[in-house]
Amino acid sequence: MHIAVTGASGFVGSGLIPELEVAQHTVLRFGRGAERPGWRQWDPITGEPELGIAPPLDAIVHLAGEPVAQRWTASARRRIADSRIVGTRNLVRAIGRLDAKPRVLVAASAIGLYGDRGDQILDETAGPSTGFLADVCQRWEEEADRAVEIGVRVVKIRIGLVLGLCGGALGKMFPPFKLGLGARIGDGSQWMSWILLDDLSAMIRYAMETDSASGVWNGVAPNPVTNAEFTRQLAAAVRRPAWFAAPKFLIRIGLGEMSQILLESQRCIPAAPLAAGFRFRCPELGPALRAVLI
Ligand SMILES: NC(=O)c1ccc[n+]([C@@H]2O[C@H](COP(=O)([O-])OP(=O)(O)OC[C@H]3O[C@@H](n4cnc5c(N)ncnc54)[C@H](OP(=O)(O)O)[C@@H]3O)[C@@H](O)[C@H]2O)c1
Repeated sequence: MHIAVTGASGFVGSGLIPELEVAQHTVLRFGRGAERPGWRQWDPITGEPELGIAPPLDAIVHLAGEPVAQRWTASARRRIADSRIVGTRNLVRAIGRLDAKPRVLVAASAIGLYGDRGDQILDETAGPSTGFLADVCQRWEEEADRAVEIGVRVVKIRIGLVLGLCGGALGKMFPPFKLGLGARIGDGSQWMSWILLDDLSAMIRYAMETDSASGVWNGVAPNPVTNAEFTRQLAAAVRRPAWFAAPKFLIRIGLGEMSQILLESQRCIPAAPLAAGFRFRCPELGPALRAVLI
């Protein structure tokens, strides 16, 4: 297949693109940086991407978006929202102009859509929450859904905490844990829905290649854990103790409103990809952490 990947320079792109190329797909990368061979320049906020390419695109994977893990100042909120909502709108408009449209759009979303749900088990039928992240995710998905109206199959992947060493949350957590300074957050009872980067890459490829796949998929492993269990297993994987607990109020003061990413509880399960026949390489956290860290 001939595939366009937006946000190709990012953490998920770094796992996905080798997965696609090993499977003999051809990848055209989109990013805001200077145009290079194999790359197309596109700033999602400012306009539509140039998708008129020979041979025509078979699929698009849309990953671009301003990082959420930063202080949510007014301008950061605008960038976080616009890069996703306006960016997806611009992408779908560009698809609409094509005579030969791609068959499928796989669009990133996030489990932030579910908000803080305690011990509730969340499959793809669970309703959204309210608040900044949940609202952005909903509007992001609504823009992707407009591609359905122009005859494109759409799979929206609500991505959880992606585990890989060269980026994402684990890349940030690894150094303190390695120094024996790992800490659970509060009482550690909040659920963390994680996925190994390799499994997320394989899931995106599976969604793209499976003609019957559509709608929402939770991009998480089938075995979410509490923060206390995650802390215990990460400390064990790096063979260091994790005796400390970071009080929630300090995290709120230090990080402001974006602290909800660390404090909220989402116990998600990937019911839709499992029903579609997707099989995880690393469904359990222990082996997933060892796969990343060894
Ligand atoms: N990693 C996770 O744990 C996780 C969890 C849930 C959801 N997701 C979602 O999955 C997608 C990919 O995640 P990721 O971890 O690969 O993200 P990432 O490493 O932050 O990369 C995203 C890419 O988006 C582009 N980008 C950044 N700021 C932008 C802006 N203001 N406007 C337009 N484009 C911008 C960048 O590409 P250029 O600089 O080359 O343009 C960047 O490489 C994101 O939409 C993210 O929200 C990720």
